[in-house]
Amino acid sequence: MLPTAMHYSHTLLKEIVQPGHIVVDATMGNGFDTELLATLVGPKGHVFAFDIQEQALAATRQRLAEKELLSHVSLIHRGHEHVADYVDGPIQAAIFNLGYLPRGDKGIITLPQTTKQALEALLPRLAPKGRIIIVCYYGHQGGAAELAAIQQFCASLPQESYNVMSYQFINQRNQPPILYCIERKKTALTFN
Ligand SMILES: C[S@@+](CC[C@H](N)C(=O)[O-])C[C@H]1O[C@@H](n2cnc3c(N)ncnc32)[C@H](O)[C@@H]1O
Repeated sequence: MLPTAMHYSHTLLKEIVQPGHIVVDATMGNGFDTELLATLVGPKGHVFAFDIQEQALAATRQRLAEKELLSHVSLIHRGHEHVADYVDGPIQAAIFNLGYLPRGDKGIITLPQTTKQALEALLPRLAPKGRIIIVCYYGHQGGAAELAAIQQFCASLPQESYNVMSYQFINQRNQPPILYCIERKKTALTFN
């Protein structure tokens, strides 16, 4: 069966993230992606995970504690647009799940401007062959504007430096999520 956007995002991470790597979960939520990343990088690596809701940090902290993964994860209670204050070295991967926290307040959503700021801060830090994965849910109010901003941002990245793909089921009802993957080329001439 073809994988869902969420499953495919995990496959794209598993292909490149290895023990010792530094990675970012830009939208921690209930911590599913944080857990995967913490498992992949192991105790010699590090995960920087961001969310603006204390509820997300609490859920993720509990999830990681149960799996004994907390030691190499920073749970940051701040917006991902501040990522440059926390991460300066090269990162292997970053993941965004845009939208609202499942089972949380549907009025607290990721926003085009801050999502773009985070992407602009992460791109120059992306290691060669590194990937930024964005799973964009857009059925909620404000979601279409964010999708348009992300699509435009991704499509305008120079092909000399990045491979960019999108993945979506195009015959499904109810706005199925779109996955974008930005991969920095090994031969990229500059860090932008
Ligand atoms: C779709 S959920 C993430 C789901 C998560 N990846 C998981 O595994 O459960 C989106 C999350 O983004 C968070 N969020 C909204 N604006 C944010 C921002 N500026 N920086 C970081 N997180 C933000 C929300 O609080 C919400 O928890």
